[in-house]
Amino acid sequence: MTHTIALSFEDGVTRFIACGTGETVADAAYRSGINVPFDCRDGACGTCKSFCEAGSYDAGDYIEDALAADEAAQGYVLTCQMRPKSDCVVRIAATSAMCKAAAGTFTARLSRVEQLSATAIRFAVKLEAGAQLSFLPGQYANLAVPGGGEVRAYSFASLLREGEVEFLVRNIPGGRMSSYLSERARVGDAIACSGPMGSFYLRPVTRPLLFLAGGTGLAPFLAMLELLERDGLGVPAHLVYGVTSDRDLVLVDRLEAFAARLPGFSFVTCVGDAASTHPRKGYVTHHLAPEHLHCGAVDTYLCGPPAMVDAVRQHLEAAGVVPAAFHYEKFAPGAQAKAA
Ligand code: FES
Repeated sequence: MTHTIALSFEDGVTRFIACGTGETVADAAYRSGINVPFDCRDGACGTCKSFCEAGSYDAGDYIEDALAADEAAQGYVLTCQMRPKSDCVVRIAATSAMCKAAAGTFTARLSRVEQLSATAIRFAVKLEAGAQLSFLPGQYANLAVPGGGEVRAYSFASLLREGEVEFLVRNIPGGRMSSYLSERARVGDAIACSGPMGSFYLRPVTRPLLFLAGGTGLAPFLAMLELLERDGLGVPAHLVYGVTSDRDLVLVDRLEAFAARLPGFSFVTCVGDAASTHPRKGYVTHHLAPEHLHCGAVDTYLCGPPAMVDAVRQHLEAAGVVPAAFHYEKFAPGAQAKAA
């Protein structure tokens, strides 16, 4: 039996490899042409120490000097000894360049474009025959603007369904990708892509979830919710989706469908514009109810502009709440995403 192992590198590149029964992660990586750090290959030096974020495994044999008991209890592993028993996500303490593991590339063809509002566009691409793509919900890809060569980073806004995946992007007047999508895009256009990238992805769900989305920062949560819908959600999950003006509020029907089909999931929307007729005005921080903070026993995921990340941090600090985990991705229109 083969397991799929996501190797997540320090620079945000993620590569997926197949690991056979009884095979160590280091051997599987090496067989795939990825030189993860190792030295003794015997569980003695600790050079290959990594962190397993998801999945089950046999940790193998090693000495305390290479991996202390408390480290092993936290999830640290030695990839020269670790034999997966399921699909796993392993964080490698090195960059992709150090490991000769460049981001994957693939070409896809535009399959749909929809102007959802004056400020938001949803589009989908279909992988070309034979192209391979795996990603963790929440991650992003770099897409080259057809005809221009410039690259934009966009979060996957769905799971891969029959070779097709969606993106949700802000329509920026004059923006390279926005102009292409609004004016010149034709179904069938080839789009060069690379990825997946980013450390903003859904971790194993062990606590209640709080999702905070700003504008088209909703995109990664749509992919996460699809995964939760597929795999089940055993904890409460709440999304606060904030936008600047009424016209920015899109895909609410999609969220309502998730809420109807996914027990435990709820959401609210809010609009910052004081002139809005929306029933909830203000920023996401104005609509964080104490019951959704679970006194800090909550895994918080945030995707939005830098100011929103700072505002949420300050709000939680002022409320005396320290989330058990706080994952965020900052984005600015037309810029590369930054995750933590
Ligand atoms: Fe030495 Fe893994 S390479 S412990």
